[in-house]
Amino acid sequence: MSSSVASSSLKTASSLHLAPGFEPDRKADQEIERLCISMEQWEERALKSCLPAQGSDKFILITGAAGFIGTHVALALKRRGDGVVGLDNFNDYYDPSLKAARRALLEKEGVFVIDGDLNDARLLETLFGIIPFTHVMHLAAQAGVRYALENPHSYVHSNISGLITLLQVCVKANPQPALIWASSSSVYGLNTKVPFSESDRTDSPASLYAATKKAGEEFMHTYNHIYGLSITGLRFFTVYGPWGRPDMAYFSFTRDILSNKQITVFKGPDNTDLARDFTYIDDVVQGCVASLDTAQPSTGSGGKKRGPAQLRTFNLGNTTPVTVSCLVSTLENLLGKEANKKYIQMPQNGDVPFTHADVSLAKAELGYSPTTDLHSGLKRFVSWYLNYYKKET
Ligand SMILES: NC(=O)c1ccc[n+]([C@@H]2O[C@H](COP(=O)([O-])OP(=O)(O)OC[C@H]3O[C@@H](n4cnc5c(N)ncnc54)[C@H](O)[C@@H]3O)[C@@H](O)[C@H]2O)c1
Repeated sequence: MSSSVASSSLKTASSLHLAPGFEPDRKADQEIERLCISMEQWEERALKSCLPAQGSDKFILITGAAGFIGTHVALALKRRGDGVVGLDNFNDYYDPSLKAARRALLEKEGVFVIDGDLNDARLLETLFGIIPFTHVMHLAAQAGVRYALENPHSYVHSNISGLITLLQVCVKANPQPALIWASSSSVYGLNTKVPFSESDRTDSPASLYAATKKAGEEFMHTYNHIYGLSITGLRFFTVYGPWGRPDMAYFSFTRDILSNKQITVFKGPDNTDLARDFTYIDDVVQGCVASLDTAQPSTGSGGKKRGPAQLRTFNLGNTTPVTVSCLVSTLENLLGKEANKKYIQMPQNGDVPFTHADVSLAKAELGYSPTTDLHSGLKRFVSWYLNYYKKET
Protein backbone atom coordinates (compact mmCIF):
# COMPACT_ATOMS: atom_id res chain seq x y z
CA MET A 1 0.00 0.00 0.00
CA SER A 2 1.43 3.41 -0.92
CA SER A 3 1.59 6.00 1.83
CA SER A 4 -1.14 8.11 0.24
CA VAL A 5 -3.48 5.10 0.08
CA ALA A 6 -2.40 4.19 3.60
CA SER A 7 -3.15 7.71 4.73
CA SER A 8 -6.62 7.69 3.26
CA SER A 9 -7.33 4.26 4.72
CA LEU A 10 -6.28 5.57 8.13
CA LYS A 11 -8.59 8.51 7.77
CA THR A 12 -11.46 6.33 6.55
CA ALA A 13 -10.94 3.97 9.47
CA SER A 14 -10.95 6.96 11.74
CA SER A 15 -14.22 8.37 10.48
CA LEU A 16 -15.91 4.96 10.30
CA HIS A 17 -15.11 3.68 13.76
CA LEU A 18 -15.06 6.67 16.08
CA ALA A 19 -18.51 7.04 17.54
CA PRO A 20 -19.89 10.56 17.48
CA GLY A 21 -19.70 12.16 20.89
CA PHE A 22 -16.86 9.81 21.80
CA GLU A 23 -15.50 10.57 25.22
CA PRO A 24 -11.93 9.58 25.97
CA ASP A 25 -11.45 7.45 29.06
CA ARG A 26 -9.60 8.72 32.12
CA LYS A 27 -6.12 7.52 31.11
CA ALA A 28 -6.43 8.88 27.57
CA ASP A 29 -7.79 12.05 29.12
CA GLN A 30 -4.71 12.35 31.36
CA GLU A 31 -2.45 11.70 28.41
CA ILE A 32 -4.17 14.42 26.40
CA GLU A 33 -3.84 16.79 29.36
CA ARG A 34 -0.14 15.95 29.72
CA LEU A 35 0.44 16.69 26.06
CA CYS A 36 -1.75 19.83 26.18
CA ILE A 37 -3.51 18.78 22.97
CA SER A 38 -7.08 18.09 21.90
CA MET A 39 -8.50 14.62 21.22
CA GLU A 40 -8.25 15.36 17.48
CA GLN A 41 -4.57 16.27 17.80
CA TRP A 42 -3.95 13.14 19.85
CA GLU A 43 -5.53 11.02 17.12
CA GLU A 44 -3.55 12.92 14.53
CA ARG A 45 -0.28 12.12 16.34
CA ALA A 46 -1.15 8.43 16.58
CA LEU A 47 -2.13 8.33 12.90
CA LYS A 48 0.99 10.15 11.78
CA SER A 49 3.27 7.91 13.82
CA CYS A 50 1.61 4.82 12.33
CA LEU A 51 1.63 5.95 8.73
CA PRO A 52 3.95 3.63 6.76
CA ALA A 53 6.48 5.17 4.40
CA GLN A 54 6.46 4.45 0.67
CA GLY A 55 7.14 0.76 0.13
CA SER A 56 5.75 -0.50 3.45
CA ASP A 57 2.20 -1.63 4.13
CA LYS A 58 2.65 -2.35 7.84
CA PHE A 59 0.67 -0.62 10.59
CA ILE A 60 2.21 -1.85 13.83
CA LEU A 61 1.18 -1.44 17.45
CA ILE A 62 4.09 -2.08 19.83
CA THR A 63 3.07 -2.63 23.43
CA GLY A 64 5.75 -2.06 26.05
CA ALA A 65 7.36 0.40 23.61
CA ALA A 66 9.05 2.39 26.38
CA GLY A 67 10.60 -0.83 27.67
CA PHE A 68 14.07 -2.10 26.82
CA ILE A 69 13.26 -4.47 23.95
CA GLY A 70 10.22 -2.45 22.81
CA THR A 71 12.30 0.68 22.25
CA HIS A 72 14.86 -1.14 20.10
CA VAL A 73 12.23 -2.98 18.06
CA ALA A 74 10.20 0.21 17.54
CA LEU A 75 13.30 2.07 16.31
CA ALA A 76 14.26 -0.70 13.89
CA LEU A 77 10.77 -0.92 12.37
CA LYS A 78 10.28 2.83 12.14
CA ARG A 79 13.71 3.35 10.56
CA ARG A 80 12.93 0.92 7.74
CA GLY A 81 9.63 2.69 7.01
CA ASP A 82 6.91 0.76 8.83
CA GLY A 83 4.11 2.64 10.55
CA VAL A 84 4.63 2.29 14.29
CA VAL A 85 2.77 3.53 17.34
CA GLY A 86 3.67 2.51 20.89
CA LEU A 87 1.74 1.89 24.09
CA ASP A 88 3.22 1.76 27.58
CA ASN A 89 1.91 2.40 31.08
CA PHE A 90 5.28 3.74 32.31
CA ASN A 91 4.99 1.85 35.59
CA ASP A 92 7.66 2.23 38.28
CA TYR A 93 8.87 -1.38 38.45
CA TYR A 94 12.21 0.25 37.63
CA ASP A 95 13.28 3.87 37.25
CA PRO A 96 10.53 5.54 35.15
CA SER A 97 12.97 8.27 34.08
CA LEU A 98 14.76 5.65 31.95
CA LYS A 99 11.43 4.85 30.27
CA ALA A 100 10.83 8.57 29.74
CA ALA A 101 14.29 8.90 28.15
CA ARG A 102 13.52 5.98 25.83
CA ARG A 103 10.23 7.65 24.93
CA ALA A 104 12.09 10.89 24.11
CA LEU A 105 14.44 8.90 21.86
CA LEU A 106 11.48 7.35 20.06
CA GLU A 107 9.69 10.66 19.68
CA LYS A 108 12.76 12.12 18.00
CA GLU A 109 12.45 9.37 15.40
CA GLY A 110 8.74 9.98 14.89
CA VAL A 111 7.32 7.22 17.10
CA PHE A 112 4.47 8.31 19.33
CA VAL A 113 4.24 6.31 22.56
CA ILE A 114 0.83 6.48 24.19
CA ASP A 115 0.71 6.40 27.97
CA GLY A 116 -1.89 3.72 28.54
CA ASP A 117 -2.50 0.35 30.17
CA LEU A 118 -3.19 -2.93 28.39
CA ASN A 119 -6.22 -3.35 30.61
CA ASP A 120 -7.79 -0.16 29.27
CA ALA A 121 -10.10 -1.77 26.69
CA ARG A 122 -11.66 1.57 25.80
CA LEU A 123 -8.31 3.10 24.91
CA LEU A 124 -7.32 0.05 22.84
CA GLU A 125 -10.66 0.04 21.01
CA THR A 126 -10.22 3.71 20.22
CA LEU A 127 -6.78 3.05 18.83
CA PHE A 128 -7.94 0.09 16.75
CA GLY A 129 -10.85 2.25 15.60
CA ILE A 130 -8.55 4.81 14.03
CA ILE A 131 -5.68 2.60 12.85
CA PRO A 132 -6.10 -0.61 10.78
CA PHE A 133 -3.27 -2.47 12.51
CA THR A 134 -1.74 -5.25 10.43
CA HIS A 135 0.53 -6.40 13.28
CA VAL A 136 0.75 -6.18 17.05
CA MET A 137 4.22 -6.64 18.55
CA HIS A 138 3.21 -7.39 22.12
CA LEU A 139 6.16 -6.82 24.44
CA ALA A 140 4.47 -5.22 27.45
CA ALA A 141 4.62 -7.39 30.57
CA GLN A 142 5.57 -7.46 34.18
CA ALA A 143 9.08 -8.83 33.77
CA GLY A 144 11.56 -10.10 36.39
CA VAL A 145 11.47 -13.25 38.45
CA ARG A 146 12.13 -12.11 42.02
CA TYR A 147 9.67 -9.20 42.13
CA ALA A 148 6.83 -11.75 42.17
CA LEU A 149 7.60 -12.43 45.83
CA GLU A 150 6.83 -8.78 46.54
CA ASN A 151 4.04 -7.99 44.08
CA PRO A 152 2.48 -11.12 42.58
CA HIS A 153 -0.63 -9.28 41.42
CA SER A 154 1.33 -7.05 39.05
CA TYR A 155 2.08 -10.22 37.01
CA VAL A 156 -1.59 -11.15 36.90
CA HIS A 157 -2.52 -7.57 35.99
CA SER A 158 -0.18 -7.26 33.00
CA ASN A 159 0.62 -10.81 31.87
CA ILE A 160 -2.81 -12.38 32.30
CA SER A 161 -5.56 -9.79 32.52
CA GLY A 162 -3.83 -7.26 30.22
CA LEU A 163 -3.06 -9.98 27.70
CA ILE A 164 -6.70 -11.11 27.54
CA THR A 165 -7.91 -7.51 27.13
CA LEU A 166 -5.52 -7.02 24.22
CA LEU A 167 -6.54 -10.35 22.62
CA GLN A 168 -10.23 -9.49 22.90
CA VAL A 169 -9.66 -6.20 21.09
CA CYS A 170 -7.54 -7.96 18.43
CA VAL A 171 -10.18 -10.59 17.64
CA LYS A 172 -12.91 -7.97 17.23
CA ALA A 173 -10.76 -5.81 14.94
CA ASN A 174 -11.34 -5.79 11.22
CA PRO A 175 -8.77 -6.55 9.87
CA GLN A 176 -7.50 -8.77 12.67
CA PRO A 177 -3.78 -8.11 13.14
CA ALA A 178 -1.12 -10.83 13.28
CA LEU A 179 0.36 -11.01 16.78
CA ILE A 180 4.03 -11.43 17.61
CA TRP A 181 4.61 -11.56 21.34
CA ALA A 182 7.24 -12.06 24.01
CA SER A 183 7.13 -15.32 25.91
CA SER A 184 10.27 -16.29 27.81
CA SER A 185 12.95 -18.93 28.22
CA SER A 186 11.67 -19.15 31.80
CA VAL A 187 8.90 -21.48 30.54
CA TYR A 188 11.57 -24.24 30.41
CA GLY A 189 11.65 -23.98 34.20
CA LEU A 190 13.60 -26.71 35.91
CA ASN A 191 14.21 -28.77 32.75
CA THR A 192 17.65 -30.38 32.69
CA LYS A 193 17.88 -31.47 29.04
CA VAL A 194 20.01 -29.01 27.11
CA PRO A 195 19.87 -27.17 24.84
CA PHE A 196 16.24 -26.13 25.41
CA SER A 197 14.17 -26.86 22.34
CA GLU A 198 10.68 -25.60 21.46
CA SER A 199 9.35 -29.17 21.52
CA ASP A 200 10.51 -29.76 25.12
CA ARG A 201 7.93 -29.91 27.92
CA THR A 202 7.23 -26.61 29.64
CA ASP A 203 5.11 -27.70 32.57
CA SER A 204 7.43 -27.11 35.51
CA PRO A 205 7.71 -23.33 35.88
CA ALA A 206 9.97 -22.25 38.76
CA SER A 207 8.49 -18.77 39.22
CA LEU A 208 5.19 -16.96 39.06
CA TYR A 209 6.62 -14.94 36.15
CA ALA A 210 7.29 -18.17 34.23
CA ALA A 211 3.83 -19.48 35.10
CA THR A 212 2.19 -16.34 33.64
CA LYS A 213 4.26 -16.63 30.45
CA LYS A 214 3.31 -20.29 30.13
CA ALA A 215 -0.34 -19.34 30.71
CA GLY A 216 0.09 -16.71 27.98
CA GLU A 217 1.22 -19.41 25.55
CA GLU A 218 -1.88 -21.46 26.35
CA PHE A 219 -4.17 -18.42 25.91
CA MET A 220 -2.52 -17.74 22.57
CA HIS A 221 -3.24 -21.29 21.45
CA THR A 222 -6.90 -20.85 22.39
CA TYR A 223 -7.30 -17.54 20.56
CA ASN A 224 -5.57 -18.96 17.50
CA HIS A 225 -7.87 -21.99 17.57
CA ILE A 226 -11.17 -20.18 18.18
CA TYR A 227 -10.71 -16.90 16.34
CA GLY A 228 -8.06 -17.54 13.68
CA LEU A 229 -5.55 -15.09 15.13
CA SER A 230 -2.08 -15.51 13.62
CA ILE A 231 0.31 -15.89 16.56
CA THR A 232 4.09 -16.03 16.87
CA GLY A 233 5.51 -16.54 20.37
CA LEU A 234 9.16 -15.65 21.01
CA ARG A 235 11.01 -17.18 23.94
CA PHE A 236 13.72 -14.64 24.71
CA PHE A 237 16.87 -15.70 26.58
CA THR A 238 18.41 -13.07 28.97
CA VAL A 239 18.50 -10.10 26.61
CA TYR A 240 21.06 -7.39 27.35
CA GLY A 241 22.44 -4.22 25.80
CA PRO A 242 22.25 -0.40 25.71
CA TRP A 243 19.05 1.08 27.21
CA GLY A 244 18.73 -2.16 29.17
CA ARG A 245 16.83 -3.04 32.31
CA PRO A 246 18.26 -1.87 35.66
CA ASP A 247 16.82 -4.92 37.48
CA MET A 248 18.97 -7.34 35.48
CA ALA A 249 22.32 -8.58 36.82
CA TYR A 250 24.60 -7.17 34.08
CA PHE A 251 23.09 -3.71 34.70
CA SER A 252 23.05 -3.74 38.51
CA PHE A 253 26.56 -5.27 38.66
CA THR A 254 27.84 -2.43 36.46
CA ARG A 255 26.17 0.18 38.67
CA ASP A 256 27.48 -1.42 41.88
CA ILE A 257 31.02 -2.04 40.65
CA LEU A 258 31.28 1.63 39.62
CA SER A 259 30.02 2.83 43.00
CA ASN A 260 32.20 0.38 44.98
CA LYS A 261 29.18 -1.49 46.33
CA GLN A 262 29.37 -5.18 47.08
CA ILE A 263 27.71 -7.43 44.51
CA THR A 264 26.02 -10.70 45.38
CA VAL A 265 26.80 -13.60 43.06
CA PHE A 266 24.55 -16.63 43.35
CA LYS A 267 25.91 -20.15 43.27
CA GLY A 268 23.92 -23.18 42.13
CA PRO A 269 23.60 -26.62 43.75
CA ASP A 270 27.00 -28.11 44.81
CA ASN A 271 28.61 -24.69 44.43
CA THR A 272 28.23 -24.77 40.65
CA ASP A 273 28.27 -21.55 38.65
CA LEU A 274 24.94 -20.31 37.34
CA ALA A 275 24.93 -19.84 33.56
CA ARG A 276 22.79 -17.83 31.16
CA ASP A 277 22.44 -17.79 27.40
CA PHE A 278 23.01 -14.00 27.24
CA THR A 279 21.56 -12.64 24.01
CA TYR A 280 22.50 -9.25 22.62
CA ILE A 281 19.64 -6.87 21.85
CA ASP A 282 20.50 -6.39 18.14
CA ASP A 283 20.28 -10.15 17.59
CA VAL A 284 16.90 -10.25 19.32
CA VAL A 285 15.66 -7.31 17.24
CA GLN A 286 16.68 -9.19 14.11
CA GLY A 287 14.61 -12.18 15.29
CA CYS A 288 11.61 -9.96 16.12
CA VAL A 289 11.68 -8.22 12.74
CA ALA A 290 12.05 -11.53 10.88
CA SER A 291 9.11 -12.94 12.86
CA LEU A 292 7.00 -9.98 11.86
CA ASP A 293 8.01 -10.28 8.21
CA THR A 294 7.17 -13.98 8.05
CA ALA A 295 3.91 -13.76 10.02
CA GLN A 296 0.92 -14.72 7.91
CA PRO A 297 -2.26 -12.65 8.24
CA SER A 298 -4.90 -13.71 10.73
CA THR A 299 -7.73 -15.59 9.08
CA GLY A 300 -10.60 -14.23 11.14
CA SER A 301 -12.40 -10.93 11.06
CA GLY A 302 -14.81 -9.15 13.35
CA GLY A 303 -14.62 -11.95 15.94
CA LYS A 304 -15.20 -14.87 13.51
CA LYS A 305 -12.65 -17.46 12.37
CA ARG A 306 -12.56 -18.08 8.61
CA GLY A 307 -9.92 -20.83 8.55
CA PRO A 308 -6.84 -22.22 10.34
CA ALA A 309 -4.23 -19.58 11.18
CA GLN A 310 -0.49 -19.66 11.74
CA LEU A 311 0.73 -20.57 15.25
CA ARG A 312 4.50 -20.57 15.86
CA THR A 313 6.94 -20.59 18.77
CA PHE A 314 10.64 -19.76 18.50
CA ASN A 315 13.58 -19.64 20.88
CA LEU A 316 15.59 -16.45 20.44
CA GLY A 317 18.82 -17.11 22.34
CA ASN A 318 22.52 -16.95 21.65
CA THR A 319 23.27 -20.70 21.97
CA THR A 320 26.42 -20.17 24.06
CA PRO A 321 25.68 -20.04 27.80
CA VAL A 322 28.16 -18.07 29.88
CA THR A 323 28.64 -18.40 33.64
CA VAL A 324 27.75 -15.51 35.92
CA SER A 325 31.39 -15.51 37.14
CA CYS A 326 32.49 -14.92 33.55
CA LEU A 327 29.93 -12.10 33.25
CA VAL A 328 31.46 -10.47 36.35
CA SER A 329 35.06 -10.81 35.17
CA THR A 330 34.15 -9.40 31.74
CA LEU A 331 32.55 -6.38 33.40
CA GLU A 332 35.58 -5.95 35.71
CA ASN A 333 37.79 -5.97 32.66
CA LEU A 334 35.66 -3.46 30.73
CA LEU A 335 35.21 -1.14 33.71
CA GLY A 336 38.87 -1.44 34.76
CA LYS A 337 37.76 -2.13 38.31
CA GLU A 338 37.60 -5.19 40.53
CA ALA A 339 34.21 -6.09 41.98
CA ASN A 340 33.70 -6.63 45.68
CA LYS A 341 31.96 -10.00 45.43
CA LYS A 342 29.93 -11.96 47.93
CA TYR A 343 29.00 -15.51 46.93
CA ILE A 344 25.83 -17.03 48.31
CA GLN A 345 23.71 -20.06 47.58
CA MET A 346 20.95 -19.21 45.10
CA PRO A 347 17.77 -18.67 47.14
CA GLN A 348 14.60 -20.53 46.19
CA ASN A 349 13.01 -17.45 44.67
CA GLY A 350 12.31 -18.54 41.13
CA ASP A 351 15.71 -18.33 39.46
CA VAL A 352 16.88 -21.36 37.49
CA PRO A 353 20.48 -22.68 37.45
CA PHE A 354 21.05 -22.34 33.70
CA THR A 355 19.51 -21.56 30.32
CA HIS A 356 20.68 -22.70 26.91
CA ALA A 357 18.77 -22.15 23.66
CA ASP A 358 18.52 -24.41 20.66
CA VAL A 359 17.82 -21.88 17.89
CA SER A 360 17.78 -24.24 14.92
CA LEU A 361 14.07 -23.68 14.29
CA ALA A 362 14.44 -19.88 14.28
CA LYS A 363 17.45 -20.26 12.02
CA ALA A 364 15.55 -22.41 9.53
CA GLU A 365 12.32 -20.42 9.47
CA LEU A 366 13.40 -16.86 10.27
CA GLY A 367 17.02 -16.86 9.11
CA TYR A 368 17.84 -15.96 12.73
CA SER A 369 21.56 -15.96 13.33
CA PRO A 370 22.94 -14.33 16.49
CA THR A 371 26.37 -12.84 15.92
CA THR A 372 27.29 -10.94 19.10
CA ASP A 373 29.43 -12.58 21.79
CA LEU A 374 29.15 -11.48 25.41
CA HIS A 375 32.36 -9.45 25.46
CA SER A 376 31.44 -7.39 22.37
CA GLY A 377 27.86 -6.88 23.57
CA LEU A 378 28.88 -5.84 27.08
CA LYS A 379 31.44 -3.45 25.64
CA ARG A 380 28.62 -1.65 23.82
CA PHE A 381 26.45 -1.73 26.95
CA VAL A 382 29.20 -0.29 29.17
CA SER A 383 29.93 2.47 26.69
CA TRP A 384 26.21 3.40 26.59
CA TYR A 385 26.00 3.21 30.43
CA LEU A 386 28.98 5.50 31.00
CA ASN A 387 27.65 8.01 28.53
CA TYR A 388 24.04 7.88 29.75
CA TYR A 389 24.95 8.27 33.42
CA LYS A 390 27.96 10.48 32.58
CA LYS A 391 30.40 8.34 34.53
CA GLU A 392 34.15 8.01 34.13
CA THR A 393 35.86 4.66 34.49
N1 LIG B 1 14.83 -8.75 28.76
C1 LIG B 1 14.85 -10.08 28.84
O1 LIG B 1 15.89 -10.69 29.10
C2 LIG B 1 13.60 -10.89 28.60
C3 LIG B 1 13.69 -12.29 28.64
C4 LIG B 1 12.55 -13.04 28.40
C5 LIG B 1 11.35 -12.43 28.12
N2 LIG B 1 11.28 -11.07 28.10
C6 LIG B 1 9.97 -10.45 27.80
O2 LIG B 1 10.17 -9.48 26.77
C7 LIG B 1 9.27 -8.40 26.93
C8 LIG B 1 10.03 -7.10 26.98
O3 LIG B 1 10.96 -7.16 28.07
P1 LIG B 1 11.90 -5.96 28.49
O4 LIG B 1 13.16 -6.55 28.97
O5 LIG B 1 11.91 -4.95 27.42
O6 LIG B 1 11.10 -5.42 29.76
P2 LIG B 1 10.70 -3.95 30.17
O7 LIG B 1 10.15 -4.05 31.56
O8 LIG B 1 11.83 -3.02 29.94
O9 LIG B 1 9.53 -3.59 29.15
C9 LIG B 1 8.17 -3.91 29.38
C10 LIG B 1 7.38 -2.61 29.25
O10 LIG B 1 5.99 -2.93 29.39
C11 LIG B 1 5.37 -1.91 30.13
N3 LIG B 1 4.17 -2.48 30.76
C12 LIG B 1 4.12 -3.41 31.76
N4 LIG B 1 2.85 -3.67 32.07
C13 LIG B 1 2.07 -2.92 31.24
C14 LIG B 1 0.68 -2.75 31.09
N5 LIG B 1 -0.19 -3.40 31.87
N6 LIG B 1 0.23 -1.89 30.16
C15 LIG B 1 1.10 -1.20 29.36
N7 LIG B 1 2.44 -1.30 29.47
C16 LIG B 1 2.92 -2.16 30.41
C17 LIG B 1 6.41 -1.45 31.14
O11 LIG B 1 6.19 -0.13 31.58
C18 LIG B 1 7.71 -1.60 30.36
O12 LIG B 1 8.10 -0.37 29.79
C19 LIG B 1 8.48 -8.71 28.20
O13 LIG B 1 7.29 -9.35 27.82
C20 LIG B 1 9.38 -9.66 28.95
O14 LIG B 1 8.64 -10.50 29.82
C21 LIG B 1 12.38 -10.29 28.33
